[in-house]
Amino acid sequence: MLIKNKIDIQNMKIAGKITADTLQMITKYIQPNISTNEINNICHQYIIKKKAIPACLGYQGFPKSICISKNEIVCHGIPNKNIFLKNGDIVNIDIAVIKNGYYSDASKMYFVGKISEKNKILCKITQKSLYLALSHIKPGIFLKEIGAIIQNYVEKKNFFIVKEYCGHGIGKNFHELPQVLHYKNFENNIILQEGMTFTIEPMVNIGTSQTKISKDGWTVKTLNNKCSAQYEHTILVTKTGCEILTWQKNEKITSHLYNI
Ligand code: MF3
Ligand code: CO
Repeated sequence: MLIKNKIDIQNMKIAGKITADTLQMITKYIQPNISTNEINNICHQYIIKKKAIPACLGYQGFPKSICISKNEIVCHGIPNKNIFLKNGDIVNIDIAVIKNGYYSDASKMYFVGKISEKNKILCKITQKSLYLALSHIKPGIFLKEIGAIIQNYVEKKNFFIVKEYCGHGIGKNFHELPQVLHYKNFENNIILQEGMTFTIEPMVNIGTSQTKISKDGWTVKTLNNKCSAQYEHTILVTKTGCEILTWQKNEKITSHLYNI
């Protein structure tokens, strides 16, 4: 597994900031009646203007520049000119960019108009499960502790963690080792070290952890068609904890976490 050097880290910070800024930039457009394709196009133009590349575009044949997953869509929703946001929707926007040959990857939930109390709680718990995991990251812990922390928290709150999709190492490649599972596992005995970079991206469901893939081959939905939420960050393990490379300035967590 790759330990990043100073140059790698410098570049990943630049890539991370572009992803974070894109997620922030799009906020004001998340309104009833905008199509998900229009959101895609605005993000695409913004990323290109920063002289970066939208990493999802063409990745294993994915047809658009970003993933937009609303309500019962768990992840990998394809932007579409005929899909419009409406009052009450919860929407995940997942953005990955390549800058100077380095990747960053992050996603968050947006609320369209007034959303239900249940969905508000779903999103809050999902975000808190990610933050809780981040607050434990430091050199010397087992990678697999992350999964146990997330699953324990989510299930204590009576939600369900999706098991089919996971976080991943990231750097000069979109998906590197290790896989970062979001549930209790005995996968390996990898110990976190300073200089590792990976994503954590829990997907949380109501009533079932199970998912199904749509006929388009991409769109992942909950098996029970209830809503799902996801938050994702790209992080760097530091000497004293971690740094959130895709940190956004409106977040209720600091970019540098001291966890020792
Ligand atoms: N950002 C997602 C991830 O964590 C999506 C990758 S699938 C893609 O891997 F095709 F949309 F790129
Ligand atoms: Co990812």
